[in-house]
Parts: sequence; structure tokens; C-alpha cells
Amino acid sequence: MKVAIVGLGSVGRGVAEMIAKKSLGLTVTGIADSTSGIINAGGIDLHDVLDVKHKTGSCGDKKISANEVIKKADYDALVEVTPTNATTGEPGLSYIKMAIGRKKHVVTSNKGPIALAYRDLKKRAEKNGVVLRHEATVGGAIPIFHMIEHGLAGNEILAIFGVLNGTCNFILTRMSDEGLTYEQALLEARQMGYAEADPTYDVQGIDAAIKLVILANTIWGNGVTLNDVNRTGIDLLTPDALRLAEDEGSTIRLIAEAIPKKGLLRVSPRIIEKSHPLVVEGTLNAITLETDMAKEITLIGRGAGSIETASAIIGDLLFIRDRYVERA
Ligand code: HSE
Repeated sequence: MKVAIVGLGSVGRGVAEMIAKKSLGLTVTGIADSTSGIINAGGIDLHDVLDVKHKTGSCGDKKISANEVIKKADYDALVEVTPTNATTGEPGLSYIKMAIGRKKHVVTSNKGPIALAYRDLKKRAEKNGVVLRHEATVGGAIPIFHMIEHGLAGNEILAIFGVLNGTCNFILTRMSDEGLTYEQALLEARQMGYAEADPTYDVQGIDAAIKLVILANTIWGNGVTLNDVNRTGIDLLTPDALRLAEDEGSTIRLIAEAIPKKGLLRVSPRIIEKSHPLVVEGTLNAITLETDMAKEITLIGRGAGSIETASAIIGDLLFIRDRYVERA
């Protein structure tokens, strides 16, 4: 299957590295970062591209833009991994529309366009006979949407509870286990590359709320938006509050909850017992689904990271290849 990649930040580089390293039957015919691009119908040498990107900061020809790659390259699926903008969704939103308009499948890790326009994008994809997949937008490596779509097919999902932001979980873990201050722990999370470019997205619960909106819209198609989420972050949490919880054998985690029958859509720091399945350490994410037949299912995994997120993207690409491209 032929693939084009737009975005060569940490996630895009992870995807390129894994396609170059593994024999997945994927050929990259177009690639672009924010300042340059390459189109090569015969297949691009990704080792070279990653090397040039590492040395110069750009991946290719400055005269070739991401727009051009999307419009002109010969590919079956676009991997859209540009940075998240939760207000406009751009540039990812336009890139996804452009590729769907050319009847290309799209795989994205970009939370902005999916949180803002999932229904519209899905309709466009259906109209054009292609699919849009977004496993990497929620829970990093955790295959939550594959599990819902396949393993839990036929189940009614009644509620979602989750630790959806690795940065907050890392900060809370470091504060309670090592006695770090909030500021020290946040600095560490930023240095290790877990936090968003603007870390207020993480600590104010915005990133977790965006992921909750994506989950809710994908599962229930209820058209909720970021404004519908009752949101409190961890930025105002004091070490004393954590210590008090610990004294009672509990701890504090930033929990996202969605229970449509109760009209509940909330992200907030919650005191929970240490033995609870959602009490995970460091940058791990955990998602519990309550269902009618399977009852409770919890998935735990790495919520962020270049190769971990690439895992979710590659899973979507291979699903599209096997289901739609090789049979076409
Ligand atoms: N900043 C996000 C987090 C990255 O910490 O979970 C993954 O979406």
C-alpha cells in the first residue's frame, strides 16, 4: 500500500522509522514537514529522510509543500500527524479534507480535527468511499477503538472512565512517590517530551477533555464539544491534598468520565483507592469501559511517545490495507 506522511515531529518520525525498519508492505511516496517535502512515486528512502531531517531540521525540497504532497503524490492512505490545534484544527483539518476529497484513506493522530469535526469528516469519508481512522488520538498505544469496534462488537458501551493524560499522571506520580513539587514534576514532564507544546493543555485538563470528547463522539455519535466537558485540572492541586489522600491509603488521579444516561461529561482530580485499576504510574494511561455484556474492561498502556503512538498509526494503516486496499 502506498502512503503519504504529513508532519515529521516526534510521531511522524516514529511512523517513518517503523515503516523503514519493519517489512510491513508500506511504501512512502510522499512526505512533508512544515517547511519542505518530497514526492517520489517509486518510493522514498526513509533512512535518508530521517537522517537529513535530523541534521538540517527539514526533510526535503523547500519548494514542495505539504499541500502539494497531499494533492499530487500517488498514495492510498494519508498519515496526518501535524501538531494539534484545538481551536481551529488547522492545518490538519484542511489536510484531511483535501486527502478525502481525492478519495484517499486517512489515518491521523491529530486530536484537533477529530475533536472539532469528527462527524463532518466521517460523512465526507463515507461519501467518497474511503475511511478515516484515529486510533492514535486517544490513549497513545492503547488500541481502544479497535477493541470497541471488533472485540466489543455488539456490546452497548454504558460509560467510560479513564486516565487520559500522561503528563498529569506523571506529575501526580512524581509528587506522591518522590515528594517533588508540582513545578519540579511539570519541568521533568516537559524535559522528557510528554507535555503538549503548551503544557496548560495538559495540566488544566484540556487534553484529557479533548480525548473524552473524541471517545464520546466516536462511541455514541452524540456531537459533544469541549465546552460540554465539566473540567478541572491539576494545576491548583496542593501537595497537602495529595498527602491527605495518601494518609488514607488513597491517591489522586485526573479522571475523565462520560456517562451519557446521566448527562455526565467530566474531567477532574479524584481521590481513589490505590488498588483501583485506574491508579497507574508515570505516563501510563488507563481506560475502563462499562458495557452491557462484557461488563467492565480496562486497558492500560503507554499514553504518549513517538514509537508507542506510531504503533497505533501502523495498526490503522494495516487495517486499511487488509480491509480496503488489497481487496480493491
Ligand atoms: N500531552 C499528551 C499527554 C500527549 O501527556 O498525554 C499524548 O496525547
